[in-house]
Amino acid sequence: MSKMRLRGFESAPGQRHVSEEDRYLYRQEEPKHRLVVIGTGTMGQEHMRVAALLGRARIHGIYDSQPLSMDVAEANFRPLQPEPLVRYDDLASACNDPAADALLICTPNYTHFDVLQTAMKSGKPIFLEKPMATDLQDAAAIVRADKAYTAFIQIGLQYRYKPQYLEALAEALTRRSVGDVKTISVSEHRPPFLDKVDQWNKFERLSGGTLVEKCCHYFDLINLLAQARPGRVYATGGQAVNFLDFERNGVPSDIDDHAFVSIDYDNGIRASFTLNMFCPDFAEELVVVGDRGRLKATEEQDIHRSASGSASLTLRLGENGLSKTSDLTYPRAIEQSGHHGSTYFEHIALIDRLEGKEVDCATPMQGMWAMIVASAAQQSVASGQAVSIDRFIAENDLETLLN
Ligand SMILES: NC(=O)c1ccc[n+]([C@@H]2O[C@H](COP(=O)([O-])OP(=O)(O)OC[C@H]3O[C@@H](n4cnc5c(N)ncnc54)[C@H](O)[C@@H]3O)[C@@H](O)[C@H]2O)c1
Repeated sequence: MSKMRLRGFESAPGQRHVSEEDRYLYRQEEPKHRLVVIGTGTMGQEHMRVAALLGRARIHGIYDSQPLSMDVAEANFRPLQPEPLVRYDDLASACNDPAADALLICTPNYTHFDVLQTAMKSGKPIFLEKPMATDLQDAAAIVRADKAYTAFIQIGLQYRYKPQYLEALAEALTRRSVGDVKTISVSEHRPPFLDKVDQWNKFERLSGGTLVEKCCHYFDLINLLAQARPGRVYATGGQAVNFLDFERNGVPSDIDDHAFVSIDYDNGIRASFTLNMFCPDFAEELVVVGDRGRLKATEEQDIHRSASGSASLTLRLGENGLSKTSDLTYPRAIEQSGHHGSTYFEHIALIDRLEGKEVDCATPMQGMWAMIVASAAQQSVASGQAVSIDRFIAENDLETLLN
């Protein structure tokens, strides 16, 4: 069993009089690994925070093309790690520091491919934020490169570790509680995309488009639950409310803020995904129905009222067996460290993998399949036609890679 942690006490002001020598429950192991974070904006800083909370790796250095991002990251991080951070002057130096064990790429989507090319020259293990690329050709090149890479590339699709989805995957796939899964419906209702450095997330060219940028998380989850290859995708969506008057250098924002997507899988499972991004608060819902019952996994957070959200899973088996509702949560420190605790468990997978253990984390191929569904959905929104995935794969020259 891993050593029990009591972080609530460990960091409480009333426990600071317990000297280093007397610390047993509160003692932190020396971190064994050193990480370099490339891109220290919102997500890069979440990874820094989570690594410090987990305590198995130290953040060794940071690199960002905008000095302000490094200044802010350093200032925010100082209370979490006493050792100073190395600040690199350029990407190649950040990637090739012999003192670093792994690289985390947290730059905007449109930079992932180029940054990854430099990062892979180091031969180090790489964590690459989602979506792996902004288009399918770059994603395919990453999958091919990964096959030949001696270290690993892990993709930042961490929603699979959110408490309600972890439980839903366990109920539906491990315990098979609802029987043979037949339908999967997912929805996300949330506020608009936040401000970003250079506002890259307001443009399809820079982000890959809303369904790729944001919704690859849900397509990854649906793919995991369906356990089959998507056969056909139909989607409708558009830009109804958000950023209608936003432009940069004369170019208007062109990202969708709502969509309905339906996916038919080759094993007969039908799935749907609903997105709305002009809501005042955050709400996610997953409903999986099989031939024995129904499960519903939810997460809600009213950001105007509370810093933390609530997650639950309800299982209804009717006369087939046990029904229950579970209130799900990670410990407060973990939940509040980012994305409701999922990033923390993604880091456990990353560090376990650095230590040579088998883990269940997102692979480049899984990232690619999430992008295929997302890109097919975007094509369907644009054309108004359903997209046959076989044809889509052939049109994009991906048959050898995927068949
Ligand atoms: N896994 C998740 O749930 C999740 C959540 C949010 C963001 N993300 C992903 O993380 C990535 C970063 O998003 P963010 O929200 O932190 O954006 P951000 O704009 O807040 O931060 C990106 C940072 O990268 C820097 N940057 C830009 N180009 C660079 C380059 N070539 N080299 C080095 N630094 C560069 C920017 O200056 C900025 O500081 C994106 O790919 C995004 O999709 C993932």
